[in-house]
Formats: sequence, structure tokens, C-alpha cells
Amino acid sequence: MSEFVASVRERLRSLANLPRYGPLGLYDPQRNVDVWLRGLGPPRNVTYNNVVGALRPFTIGIMLGRDESPIPEVLPVSLCMRERESNRPLGSIELRLTRTIPLPEHQFCLFEAGACQNRCVTASNLLLYYFRQWWRNRSNQRKNPYNFQMTSGGLGASYVFYICPRPVVLVTVVHGNAGNMFPMDLIGPTDSPWYSMALRKTSPAVRLMVESRRMALSSAPFTYKDIAYELGKHHKLASIDWAQLPFPTESSPLFRLPVPSAALKIREVEVREVHDVGSHMLFITSIVRETVPRGASNGTGGPQLFHAFSSYRQYLAMSLAMNQV
Ligand SMILES: Cc1cc2nc3c(=O)[nH]c(=O)nc-3n(C[C@H](O)[C@H](O)[C@H](O)COP(=O)(O)O)c2cc1C
Repeated sequence: MSEFVASVRERLRSLANLPRYGPLGLYDPQRNVDVWLRGLGPPRNVTYNNVVGALRPFTIGIMLGRDESPIPEVLPVSLCMRERESNRPLGSIELRLTRTIPLPEHQFCLFEAGACQNRCVTASNLLLYYFRQWWRNRSNQRKNPYNFQMTSGGLGASYVFYICPRPVVLVTVVHGNAGNMFPMDLIGPTDSPWYSMALRKTSPAVRLMVESRRMALSSAPFTYKDIAYELGKHHKLASIDWAQLPFPTESSPLFRLPVPSAALKIREVEVREVHDVGSHMLFITSIVRETVPRGASNGTGGPQLFHAFSSYRQYLAMSLAMNQV
């Protein structure tokens, strides 16, 4: 009976086309959506160079060359999502430069999100979801008054940001007797040696990451969807009991950190810089070893777990169904 209710609920949700985030199985790097930076000279493809720096204020980081001319703060810059195959515009976010982090040969530019346009969902559905999210936040805030809430502008911009599917990794960090493994999706490459990770400032793992200065990032197979959400709880823990993990682990090749045996890729990273960006700590790391386990090579490990905005996921499912007719 409960299965029946769940499937009816899922069907109603999909008919209502409620915007929300959700899981998607894709091969990494995703090739469905391109992201373009406009307003800084000729349009620049930043598909693999746009990451979240913080959720409040909703901040997006883009890596530029060190000798590129400084970006005037008043310049209207925007991030545009387009479907790769058809070049169809899917959404855009206006950006305002708020900070630049100088790095060897690079500068990491942090932009606050402004007005946005979402072409994957109707205005009425969007309003419905804002209301749903506001309602959820209100009850969460009552349970945990120290939790931060995203602004409605930030929320709208985050939906557009997630039109481009974002990979989910399981992060392992160990320092002294404490250790943790938890999912992250505010992560990503930056078309440079730097790999970015944003973790809520209140997360106890921030201290472990700052002190140990090394982590293993395991690309989660799509079949780990439920596990990854379940491990979301670990974000609040100071340390975990490794024996309680619901899957087998093995040691990462370089740092010997426990990683899921089913990982599709393992990136071992070292922390180079840590910056306070509003709600989140921004870790600028560099990848010191990237390993594709033998069992996962040539796509044999199956697709990877990604997060994407639901209306785009539904659009994808529809195009797939139409192609199969
Ligand atoms: C799949 C997944 C990815 C997440 N990625 C991040 C992340 O990149 N950075 C972060 O600070 N928190 C991340 N979180 C943590 C959540 O934002 C949240 O803090 C955690 O799940 C606890 O949720 P609650 O406060 O609603 O109980 C992630 C959680 C999940 C389930």
C-alpha cells in the first residue's frame, strides 16, 4: 500500500512539474548542458569552471587567468545555461563581482547572483515552489534556529545553477582519532589546477579539513543515490564509526583514506587555501592523485550520481522518451 501511495505521489509531483533538486545518473563530465559567461569580452565557455562558493549570499566562483584585466564591479556579467545539442537557452543568472582571490597564475573571481531567468519552468510553478521552500525553511528554522536560510533571490538563482547537472562526491577526511565521510555537491573543477569545495561553516568537518589539509573525493555511482542522501546526516557529526557504513570500503591509493570500494573515481586533494565566504568555508584544493579503479573504467561502473533541477530532469526524460518513439 505504501508503495502505491509513494508511486501516486511521485506521479502527481511529476504532473505538477514541481521544481526541486533531484538525482540524475550521468557519465562524468556531463555533456548535456553548456554554461557560458557573458559580458567579459567574447562569450566564454565555463561549463567545467563554475562552482558554488556559498549559499548565502548565493555566490558563484569562476577561475580566470591572473593577467586578465580586472573586472569592473559595475559590468553586467551573466552566466547562461544552454542545452549543448540544440543550443536552446535554458536559463541565466546575472552576476556581480564581489571578491577576487589571487592564486599563482590565476584569480578566483567570486560573484554574487542577482536576477535570473529560468526557462525550464513556468512562473506559476516557480511561485509554488518558493512557497513550499519558504514553508519548509520556516519549520526547519523552528527546529534549528541556528540554521541559515537562503534568500528567495538566492534560491531562484540556485535552481538555474542546477539546470546544469552537478556531480555528487563522497568526501573522506580523517584527523587524529576523528574521521568522517559525507556527500558534497558544492564542488567542482575550475579549468585550472584548482578544485573548489564549499562546506557550511557550522559543519564539524570544517575543522578536520582545515587541520588535516587532505581529503579523498569519491565519485558516487548512481546506485548509491539513497546511501548518499542518508550520509547527509554525517554533515552534523564530529566523527563517524566506520564499521557502521552500509557499504564496503578500501584505502585510497595515496593518503590511505577509507573510500567506497564502488567509487567510480577517486580524487585525492590537498587544501591550498581556505576562505570564509558568508555561509560557507571555501576550500581551494589541488588534485594530487586521480584514480579510476579498474572495475569502473570504460563506464563499466555505470553512471555517476548527479544533482539537477527537476524541471530540466523532466525535460531530459521527455526528450529521451521522444527519441525512443
Ligand atoms: C547529496 C548531498 C550533497 C551535499 N552537499 C553539500 C555541500 O557540498 N556542502 C555543504 O555544506 N553541505 C552539503 N550537504 C549537506 C546539506 O546541505 C545539509 O546540511 C545536511 O544534509 C543536513 O541537512 P539538514 O540540516 O536539513 O538536516 C549535502 C547533503 C547531501 C545529502
